[in-house]
Amino acid sequence: MVPLRPRPGILEIEPYVGGKAEVEGMANVIKLSANEAALGPSPKAMAALRAALPVVHRYPDGGARALRQAIGARFDLDPERIVCGSGSDELIQLLMRAYAGPGDEVLYSAHGFLMYKICALAIGASPVAAPERDLKTDVDAMLSLVTTRTRAVFVANPNNPTGSHLTPDELARLHAGLPDDVLLVIDAAYAEYIGGDDYTTGQELVLRAGNVVMTRTFSKQFGLAALRLGWLYAPAHVIDVLHRVRGPFNVSALAQTAGIAALEDHEHQERERANNDRWRPWLAGQLTGLGLTVHPSVANFVLVGFAGADGRSARAASSWLERQGVLARPMGAYGLPHCLRISVGREDENRAVVERLREFVA
Ligand SMILES: Cc1ncc(COP(=O)(O)O)c(C=O)c1O
Repeated sequence: MVPLRPRPGILEIEPYVGGKAEVEGMANVIKLSANEAALGPSPKAMAALRAALPVVHRYPDGGARALRQAIGARFDLDPERIVCGSGSDELIQLLMRAYAGPGDEVLYSAHGFLMYKICALAIGASPVAAPERDLKTDVDAMLSLVTTRTRAVFVANPNNPTGSHLTPDELARLHAGLPDDVLLVIDAAYAEYIGGDDYTTGQELVLRAGNVVMTRTFSKQFGLAALRLGWLYAPAHVIDVLHRVRGPFNVSALAQTAGIAALEDHEHQERERANNDRWRPWLAGQLTGLGLTVHPSVANFVLVGFAGADGRSARAASSWLERQGVLARPMGAYGLPHCLRISVGREDENRAVVERLREFVA
């Protein structure tokens, strides 16, 4: 009998392990392990979900027209150049499948979002990780690794888990150094938490170039991670390709309905953003005060370095926190075993994680 085998690359994949959500025997945990919205979903989105329940026997609008129009109106984009997906994870997979394949190379930075490597291996391509400088994407290192086999470059801006970002000039330089037939995907999952001239989602690059795509999500500031809703903005020819490869009903009706309502709930978005603006610097300051290394972050989390060799003390800190019902994210899978990533939570949660770590370092 011929043994059944998956295609080459698949068995090299380390399955993605999401942020822990439970501790056995504990009813209430503080979950700061997945960069979710600290203040929960928008009340308007919850009301819209309840109102939509009686029609869940109907298929959703496969083209997500109303949602695309709402996104377009909100971000001043042409709805025809938007595709929605089941989380931006799905869109990353679709882009990968459509533009790369066996024998091709997919480039990303060494501590970049894990799904780039996973998706590259899943399609049989070779993942290529460019070294970073000070835990930040190094444009020159990335460009030096582009070969004739490179088909796509993925950059999270800002990056998860490092929290660092490329400036508009750096992003433009990365794009300028790429051949026209290489796809540049700018993953702006945390864009809603950031402002100022020092940051761009890359949407202007999408408009003027033929090989740039920007991906976004409703899982972070919009607080809809469980519904799985992401979107991307791309040139017309990429949109055409994605409509050919995506599932016909890839975004559920509930996700579409909640997404529209969440977009309209400006008050809730403002609260979430203000919570992050207030508590991320506080968290960073307090943890630095404990003697820990806090890497500068513009997103809704901080990456915290522990001094112990081989990640021993980060692991110990993670177990200590867990025993007290506080969940942070160990970073071994990202090649940062000496770090924990801690999401910004509500005030009580932020105070709790600092107190537990104060006890730990003591
Ligand atoms: C940089 C980055 N991109 C994409 C995603 C995936 O988000 P989604 O929930 O939209 O699939 C995440 C989730 O943590 C992320 O950190």
